[in-house]
Amino acid sequence: MCGIVGCVLDKKVAPTILKSIKKLEYRGYDSIGIATVTDTINVKKGQGKIDEVDSKLDFEDMGGNIGIAHVRWATHGNPTKENSHPHCDCNNNISVVHNGIIENYKDLRKELMDEGHQFKSETDTEVIPHLIEKYLDEGLEYLEAVQTTIKRLNGSYALAILNKDMPDTLIGVRNESPLIVGVSDNGNYVASDVPAILNETNKVIYLKDKEIIRLTKDNVEVMNLDLEPIEKEVTKITWSPDRAEKGGYDHFMIKEIYEEPQVIKDTLSEAEKIKDIVGKFKKFNRICFVACGTSYHASLVGEYLIESQTGIPTEVMLASEFDYFQNTIDEDTLIIFITQSGETADTIKALKKIKNKAETLAIVNVVGSTITREADHVIYTRAGPEISVAATKTYISQLVCIYLLVAYLNEDEELIEKLYSISKLSEQLLDNEEHIQEIAKKYKDANNFFYVGRGFNYPTALEGALKLKEITYIHGEGYPAGELKHGPLALLDENIPVVGILPPGPSYNKTFNNLEEIKARGANLILLCANDDTQVDGMGDTLRFNPIIDEELAPLLYIIDLQFLAYYISIERGIDPDKPKNLAKSVTVE
Ligand code: G6P
Repeated sequence: MCGIVGCVLDKKVAPTILKSIKKLEYRGYDSIGIATVTDTINVKKGQGKIDEVDSKLDFEDMGGNIGIAHVRWATHGNPTKENSHPHCDCNNNISVVHNGIIENYKDLRKELMDEGHQFKSETDTEVIPHLIEKYLDEGLEYLEAVQTTIKRLNGSYALAILNKDMPDTLIGVRNESPLIVGVSDNGNYVASDVPAILNETNKVIYLKDKEIIRLTKDNVEVMNLDLEPIEKEVTKITWSPDRAEKGGYDHFMIKEIYEEPQVIKDTLSEAEKIKDIVGKFKKFNRICFVACGTSYHASLVGEYLIESQTGIPTEVMLASEFDYFQNTIDEDTLIIFITQSGETADTIKALKKIKNKAETLAIVNVVGSTITREADHVIYTRAGPEISVAATKTYISQLVCIYLLVAYLNEDEELIEKLYSISKLSEQLLDNEEHIQEIAKKYKDANNFFYVGRGFNYPTALEGALKLKEITYIHGEGYPAGELKHGPLALLDENIPVVGILPPGPSYNKTFNNLEEIKARGANLILLCANDDTQVDGMGDTLRFNPIIDEELAPLLYIIDLQFLAYYISIERGIDPDKPKNLAKSVTVE
């Protein structure tokens, strides 16, 4: 996920474009770059947050009434100045900013290099200006050169393109990455998202995939891929700028939960890379996960999966406790470090200590983060930037990586197919939201919750309870369903709601019996179960799931409802779920 903006105005563009791109910093913050056209293409770009780079480069100083800008969330190539957008062709005539992934960029890059094009970055994006240059050199008109380029791209892209020789025209294209057009009396805009332009105009045109737009200061033309004109409606936005930044949602957390079906899809696109990495592993006879917080819970799901599916002895260590166990690690151990930020001090310290002793793999969301420089292998989760402190979509993307890893370790094609079907099913899950709001209202004043599950879903119980603690300040305790009888049953009464995770599968009957024991102690049950489960009728509130999701895959989906539950209890209690007290997104102290 990156953010792009482009404008053609009746005045100097730099101050406006800088203000606009700052509104998209939530989409990426590795680097920023701006290009404008005067009698040449001017590019300023650098690594870091917008204000840091601006204080060194002074973007507002750039001349020209037309410009494009980009904030980057790195996917191909580390977050360096060279990899920052905009990217240009060999002669600096064409400049491009891009959000998305060009899947066939390696083949295109080779073809262009063989033809003599010189590349300056490691990005997938850079093939685009070079392709446009190639087709212009072959004699095509500008728009046709862009059209021919687009037809050669596989993947997702939102583009804004400048041409030195057409200094009043900006071209934009959208395919599977967001791009909107802003219309005003003083000029016209393209942007990844509404907040970027809301200070300038509230008149917006929404583009569909494979639509091309040509903007001048006074005119907006929308075309299809055959360059035939398309009539579009102008919509008036009524959101406040703050709400717009959150995509119309009240908080980043709920926006990020809603992104989860897409995140599952995006992370599945890493399958081939994960397969390659699995092929490179040395021989190992034991796996050890090291992580903290939510990443620790994802690791626990990994332990259950790997042990049950592959028979490889596996264990999970909290990074902050790693010191006390590291003596048992040897060269036959594969150690997997999971961290969304890639910066957690405990996790990095553990990796640094052990890296010469065993083979190491990092599963991480932030490209170029510290951990990626220390581990032998890196798998990227494709969750995009997560702003809310409580991890939601990054957890889901970690799980997808773990399932893929297990599928390739075990050469289990069936599991891979099931994962693809899960990405579709996850959209249905968002349907439980209204019912969860009612449950949240009912239990908002409880002081304690229990979350219980068995096997693969014991970690789901732990993660559900962690979400509750983090953003509602209610004590939530995750427990293995079979273990309550050894102590916690003594605590239960009607004041303690118990969330039971009860998917279909071999553990069902035992978990069901445990939940009956809980019910008999007077506790109120909230049950997560299959749509066709009639045994639970009358036992408590139910949240229903598609019956084909069995206990092995349930961790991927059942947690979504528990994230919603924590979110809505937090709202009921008047807490800002995005910024829980005392907690931070990235914990860089031990
Ligand atoms: C902090 C965050 C949690 C996260 C944990 C581990 O406590 O608030 O959401 O799970 O750190 O972070 P990591 O970046 O290593 O996954």
